[in-house]
Amino acid sequence: MNADPKKSSDVTNEAEPTAAMTAMPVWLVALMVTLLFLSAWYFDLYGGWFEPKVFSPYVSVADVQRFQPKTGGIAETVARGKKLFSDNCAVCHMETGVGNPANGCPPLVDSEWVKSPTATRMVMLISKGLSGPITVNGKVWNSGVMLAVGDSLPGSEAEKAEKIAAIATYVRFQFGKIAVETKPAQVEAIRASIKDRTANFTAEELLKAEP
Ligand code: HEC
Repeated sequence: MNADPKKSSDVTNEAEPTAAMTAMPVWLVALMVTLLFLSAWYFDLYGGWFEPKVFSPYVSVADVQRFQPKTGGIAETVARGKKLFSDNCAVCHMETGVGNPANGCPPLVDSEWVKSPTATRMVMLISKGLSGPITVNGKVWNSGVMLAVGDSLPGSEAEKAEKIAAIATYVRFQFGKIAVETKPAQVEAIRASIKDRTANFTAEELLKAEP
């Protein structure tokens, strides 16, 4: 028996640590591939391809643009007309266009005068006002007078025409469901043809004008 603990044969028998290579577990590879696939898929669906304007729930620039407020065109004119209507017409016809029977003001909602195929009558009556009997939706109105609201709008003739065009566009769009913009040039032409007129129009005269 050997009493010496440092005897070389005992030491060399201990195993040295070794560095061995083992293949990555298949499940880990599968997990990484799956995660990569899912993140790429998610990016493709919601990432907007690095476009900073695009956030979920929008998926592309085109998608974002679809929801932008429209500039120009009828929407802008309708918005401008709504404001002018509030300032110049709503006192008699009400904001909602239902009219005010107590003051002899007929409704604009679904009125055949509003739904007239062109804006000619509308421009005429806004410009010079209206009096005398008028039938609206089967009911005769005769107790009120509409003033020459258009003629008394502030500004030059071109400015008046532009405002009347916006009001006519709004009224026809909002109360007559007609989405056709009335252009200032159209209004100027109609107003030029009636410029010497000082009295209110009558319903009968409007009926003789272009519908
Ligand atoms: C002072 C009150 C008053 C104001 C302001 C006024 N109206 Fe009128 N409006 C009337 C009255 C009253 C009549 C009916 C006149 C009649 O009996 O001949 C009428 C008739 C009309 C009609 C034809 C009938 C109908 O109901 O469709 C239209 C369209 C109309 N107005 C639009 C307008 C617009 C647009 C404005 C603003 C630019 C306006 N009015 C401002 C009082 C007013």
